[in-house]
Amino acid sequence: MKTLIHPRDERTQPARIVPGYPQTPLRNPGQPLVRRAPTLSELTGPVEVARRVRLLGGDIAGHGAKQAIGQLMHLRVRVLDEDGAPVGGTVVEIWQANAAGRYIHPNDDDHAPPDPNFYGAARLVTDASGAFELRTVKPGAYPVPTRDGWWRPPHVHFSLFGKVWLSRLVTQMYFPGEPLNAQDRILNAVPDPAARACLIARHVPPTGDPYNALVYEHQIVLRGRTATAEQS
Ligand SMILES: [Fe+2]
Repeated sequence: MKTLIHPRDERTQPARIVPGYPQTPLRNPGQPLVRRAPTLSELTGPVEVARRVRLLGGDIAGHGAKQAIGQLMHLRVRVLDEDGAPVGGTVVEIWQANAAGRYIHPNDDDHAPPDPNFYGAARLVTDASGAFELRTVKPGAYPVPTRDGWWRPPHVHFSLFGKVWLSRLVTQMYFPGEPLNAQDRILNAVPDPAARACLIARHVPPTGDPYNALVYEHQIVLRGRTATAEQS
């Protein structure tokens, strides 16, 4: 069986602890890792995730009188494996702030207003070409609730279940041309500039949509040397 285990590339993957980002010490091991062989279930499961979870629609921007406030955006993403082959059937969970930078989450007590027409989360499955599309609004930047009060740039969170448990990936996507990208502590925790650039979507012209929505394309690679950087 082809091994799915690669040593973690410390240049293309982020530092585990990000100063000033309170969650990172909680999301990363506090002790040195112990190497062990992957188990059979880790290499073969989960099976048929798309059938076991409730998929949510790929349109979270609303319609008619219930449109979410913000810049309408189509996000087109392809999921590839380490050989560049499309990974169809991948369950992808997506969450983002609304256009004002506010999440619908009890922990988000920022002053920015919630948008009753924007829930901000979706759960989709990639098609045979590894693609999915989300109709949403562009998220706003928001301040991180720390004493030094830095701001996160607009971004979208993804959690992907690949073919096996070991190809699970939690990452984020950023937008080109955003001034806050240059100082974002999460994005810049990835040392390699090329790997950081792979986390930034590509803006492309609209393609006949009657609303002329913004269109962004993005690519996510599960594992391997060109794996998309984790962003928790
Ligand atoms: Fe976020």
